[in-house]
Amino acid sequence: MTPLDLLVSGAAEVFPSGDEAPISHGVVGVQAGRVVYLGPETGLAGAGWTPGPGTRRVDAAGGLVTPGLVDPHTHLVFAGDRAHEYALRAQGASYQEIARAGGGIAHTMAHTRAASEETLCALAAPRLDRLLRHGVTTAEVKSGYGLDLDTELKLLRVIRRLDRHHPVDLVATFLGAHIVPPEHRADRARYVDLLVHGMLPAVAAEGLAEFCDVFVEDTAFHPDEATAILRAGASLGLRPKLHVDQLTDGGGARLAADLGAVSADHLEFASVDGIRALADAGTTAVLLPGATLFLGQSARPPARALLDAGVPVALATDCNPGTCPTENLSLMLTLGMSLLRLQPDEALRAVTCHAARAIGRADVAGALAVGRPADLVVFDVPSHRHLPYHFGVNHARTVVKGGRVVWEAPPTPTFFTPA
Ligand code: NIG
Ligand code: FE
Repeated sequence: MTPLDLLVSGAAEVFPSGDEAPISHGVVGVQAGRVVYLGPETGLAGAGWTPGPGTRRVDAAGGLVTPGLVDPHTHLVFAGDRAHEYALRAQGASYQEIARAGGGIAHTMAHTRAASEETLCALAAPRLDRLLRHGVTTAEVKSGYGLDLDTELKLLRVIRRLDRHHPVDLVATFLGAHIVPPEHRADRARYVDLLVHGMLPAVAAEGLAEFCDVFVEDTAFHPDEATAILRAGASLGLRPKLHVDQLTDGGGARLAADLGAVSADHLEFASVDGIRALADAGTTAVLLPGATLFLGQSARPPARALLDAGVPVALATDCNPGTCPTENLSLMLTLGMSLLRLQPDEALRAVTCHAARAIGRADVAGALAVGRPADLVVFDVPSHRHLPYHFGVNHARTVVKGGRVVWEAPPTPTFFTPA
């Protein structure tokens, strides 16, 4: 009988993700950072495991245990904020109007260029902390607020530093093609040239990013530019991702499929043809209902049509200063249900196994299974159906990364004092 390092017991439900059904009253045994047992407590000894004097015990206290959540689309590293633009939008200004007037991404870019690597790191770390406290153990982070060689490299180095010195595992994406920066507006081709021949080779040479992303939109990049940029990235080993069809139907879903993108993100205006193409290409759809909500958009990403076509659907925060300033990934489950009509199990898979697939981590993240890294969360709700249902509240009680408890919510005493 081998003693465990960690035993999570007392859960009302364990949600392993993938195709597995939730396990009522299951326990999770961990040794050397990996899950070694998953099932009823009565089966533990039969499998050769036992809690010993050195075993750390986590009492799930009638709660829900899920895999560590995966946030597959964030823009965590930036300086400044855009609270003033949020107020302008509440007065009726649109995201694109603000962008055309020099605000939006260009505003954040100016603040980000002026900030040092130290400052950017100090600003991003608490955002990453908040993600972790909401149960996220793996996240994708994009550059894209530098838009010149030095600042883009600076952002990617910040992401690398955070990855090395923070429990959350990060996957870096180069988004130098977020918008054409103001100094290149008169000659867009020169900026595309700089991306292809200057920035991408420098990013690849330092091994700073795994993915290359392009924002395809009227106010950003055109499909032919995206094609040139993503092909150049792919030839240097950076796998393609795309921001497409967010504000208008630019044929982005079909483009993502044709380019063999690992994920196509946003998709509010994706066409029926585009959805079929994504299914055939095996591209994962990353939907960002927080941005839909925050921008007050009436168009919804076609989650049901995507799932019916066989496209894996992931959900992400899109955490960024312009279209979704939040680290609350559980809230995206609620929006996934209320705005996109997902079922609770589909919503939870969208932030676990499908989210991991969207960032090339399907083998190590997003599922609880014997032999996998022990990344898990204990939520203070009785089932996976209750996590999206009781919304706007952080239910995460304990977060385990690689078998280590990295966060425990402090006890919350009641203010109720009966006489
Ligand atoms: O995913 N769509 C492009 N990028 C971000 C918005 C970035 C910003 O406005 O700062 C998004 O929504
Ligand atoms: Fe985004």
